[in-house]
Amino acid sequence: MEVRGLVKNFGETRALDGVDLDVREGTVLGVLGPNGAGKTTLVRILSTLLRPDAGTAVVAGYDVVRQPRQLRRVIGLTGQYASVDEKLSGRENLYMIGRLLDLSRTVSRARADELLERFSLTEAAKRPAQQYSGGMRRRLDLAASMIGRPAVLYLDEPTTGLDPRTRNEVWGEVRGMVDEGVTVLLTTQYMEEAEQLADELAVIDRGRVIAGGGIEELKAKVGGRTLQIRPADPGALRHMARALAEAGPRGSSDTVIDASEGLLNVPISSDEQLTAVIGVLGARGFPVAGIGTHLPSLDEVFLAITGQKASTPQADGPAPGDAPENARRAEDDHHQEVPA
Ligand SMILES: Nc1ncnc2c1ncn2[C@@H]1O[C@H](COP(=O)(O)OP(=O)(O)O)[C@@H](O)[C@H]1O
Ligand SMILES: [Mg+2]
Repeated sequence: MEVRGLVKNFGETRALDGVDLDVREGTVLGVLGPNGAGKTTLVRILSTLLRPDAGTAVVAGYDVVRQPRQLRRVIGLTGQYASVDEKLSGRENLYMIGRLLDLSRTVSRARADELLERFSLTEAAKRPAQQYSGGMRRRLDLAASMIGRPAVLYLDEPTTGLDPRTRNEVWGEVRGMVDEGVTVLLTTQYMEEAEQLADELAVIDRGRVIAGGGIEELKAKVGGRTLQIRPADPGALRHMARALAEAGPRGSSDTVIDASEGLLNVPISSDEQLTAVIGVLGARGFPVAGIGTHLPSLDEVFLAITGQKASTPQADGPAPGDAPENARRAEDDHHQEVPA
């Protein structure tokens, strides 16, 4: 997928303001942004449902404006709102889409059954979709987008409004589709979702990509790694913190003791500092049971980026420190354990 300078206006509203994106075959690009950022507009243009005012986009070798018919044959789309026919059963929904895609009756039937099985809907296959739970509906939606064996799949906020358990289920399904080799563009408001599914990220705000790259790379950009140390003896926490304040590298006097977890959290900004901290503890003879580094969560990344954007003179974004509407503080369990 190659997107260059995409612009779309709705009257006074500039929904897309020059978007550039690249997605490599077989990877997942997470397009992360708050409500109104332009995510759905982007997906609609890339799926030929909307014409851009300027810019170009080539998907799977087809130009979205000049070759829409060819492109439609190789893409799948799961929209932000479930689009199943309530009155039809799960099997009938999938069969109908197969027929709309010009598959024969026999092939449509076989493909429907195969996908019902694949998305754990076989038991509910004959029930009308209106009786399905939110998670089942979403699975039916995903199955529907897979009927035509798309090479490229757009998932527009696939788990918004779902409970955490169902969200996890959907993530599992998406991973399965990626394992089958599909290239995915996934939009989301959830940092955790992007982290779970995406290879690369594009953070989008007010129709512009404000940051992009690998997830670790984005996190590293914000800096602020924390070194977490677990002493063999929890009683040594305070002594260790004092030793670091006395003899540790710059910044280690800001060490935070987490007594309930039995951890010492030492802010570090370089590998040298990390080595120095370990060195001081070793030299003072404190036995250490485990150490790890903790990177900032994606919402911390987003806040840092939007904060930066707002502080530039030409930007008309939110005031520095303003939290984006939908930012939420996800528990970040991302630890990189290193041998003690
Ligand atoms: N059909 C439309 N007519 C007018 N404004 C629209 C239309 N679609 C989207 N917009 C506006 O464009 C901006 C981006 O919307 P959208 O792409 O839906 O964002 P997102 O999906 O990230 O929430 C918003 O300000 C929205 O109100
Ligand atoms: Mg949207």
